[in-house]
Amino acid sequence: MDEQKIKELITYALNMRAFSYTPYSKFKVGAALLSSEGKIYTGCNIENASYTPTICAERTAFFKAVSEGVREFKAIAIVGGHADDKELDYCFPCGVCRQVMSEFCRDSFLVIIAKSVDEYRTFSLPDILPERFGPKDLLC
Ligand code: THU
Repeated sequence: MDEQKIKELITYALNMRAFSYTPYSKFKVGAALLSSEGKIYTGCNIENASYTPTICAERTAFFKAVSEGVREFKAIAIVGGHADDKELDYCFPCGVCRQVMSEFCRDSFLVIIAKSVDEYRTFSLPDILPERFGPKDLLC
C-alpha cells in the first residue's frame, strides 16, 4: 500500500477520535478501515454505563461496513490514547477485535498502528494473530 493512502487512513482515524463516547475510560480510539473496493469505513469506541456493551473503534468500523454488505478489506488504521495525552502512543487492537479481523480478512490484511501521520507501524494479520482460528476451520 502506498504511503499516501496510509497517511490518508491515519488522518481519518485521528479525526474519528473526536466522536469517541468514553465517559468512563476517557480513552479515545479512532479507526479507518479500507475496503477492497477503496471505500473507507470509520469507527470510534462507544462505551456504556453497564461496561460490557462497550464496543471498540475497530469493531464499529467493521460492523458499519459489513452491515452495508462489504466483506473484503485491505487495511485498517488505528489510533488511540487517553483524552488528556498530549502525544499518542501506539494503541494495539484488543483480542476480540483481532478475532473480528480474522473473520473477514486475508493474511495480507494490513494493520496500521499510528501515533501520527508520520509515525506508524504496520503489521500483517498473522503478525498480530498467529495461528488464528477462523472461517477456514469451520467452512469446507
Ligand atoms: N478500545 C478500542 O476502541 N480499541 C482498542 O484497540 C483498545 C480498546 C477502547 C475500548 C474502551 O472504550 C477503551 O478503549 C478502554 O479499553
